[in-house]
Amino acid sequence: MKKLMAANWKMYKTAADAEKTARELVEATDNLPEDREVMVFPPFTAIAGVVEAFAGNENFIVGGQNCYPADEGAFTGEISPRMLLDLGCRSVLTGHSERRHILGESDEFVGKKTAFALRSGLHTVLCIGETLEEREAGALTDVLSRQLKAGLAELDNGVNQEMFSVAYEPVWAIGTGKTAGPPEILEAHGIVRNILSDLLPKTGKNIRILYGGSVKPANIGEIITLDNVEGVLVGGASLQADSFSQIVLG
Ligand code: G3P
Repeated sequence: MKKLMAANWKMYKTAADAEKTARELVEATDNLPEDREVMVFPPFTAIAGVVEAFAGNENFIVGGQNCYPADEGAFTGEISPRMLLDLGCRSVLTGHSERRHILGESDEFVGKKTAFALRSGLHTVLCIGETLEEREAGALTDVLSRQLKAGLAELDNGVNQEMFSVAYEPVWAIGTGKTAGPPEILEAHGIVRNILSDLLPKTGKNIRILYGGSVKPANIGEIITLDNVEGVLVGGASLQADSFSQIVLG
């Protein structure tokens, strides 16, 4: 499968700015290698313009940064997978650490979202990762195992490897400029691969594992070639087409 080069624009960009950046990105990566695909998660308010900018480029996918596990209902402020699909999205993030640690989303709720989004037909990227305290306490494997088991708990019959990815994002590396080094990435992605293979005997070995946490043009080369790294999920360095295109092509 292609390396999945993803951008999480979080709560940045107006609709006009997002569309502009998306168009610049398409232009800057017009020689996208066969083994790459691009996935951008803009704010909900900017999805339509980014979908328009990516129109006709099947290797450029737009996703939602979150969703609620229902088609519709009295859930003020929420967005359903069906609404994301209606806007032209083909993917969604679940369990991003900012939703877990700032908004208090539980592992169980992330699991419900993940299953519902997959059943709705969205390529779902389940985000996991440990805090510095958890790492320093030697709880890395326990945390990743807990988050993956809960994230997959609501799935009835496994997952299609084309429609499910995992993003390992050590919380201590997000937005800090502290990128996990190759040893930390190799260790964590190896743990994730083993857990996925246990939980999903048929497809676990083929699920793409993305690394996220201060990915930059300067470090993409050493990250993207590591074992069990099949893509990246980039925050700050994806907000500008120039830097993100260097990462996509790196
Ligand atoms: O979801 C990706 C994001 O959390 C990583 O952020 O700014 O460290 O690349 P950043």
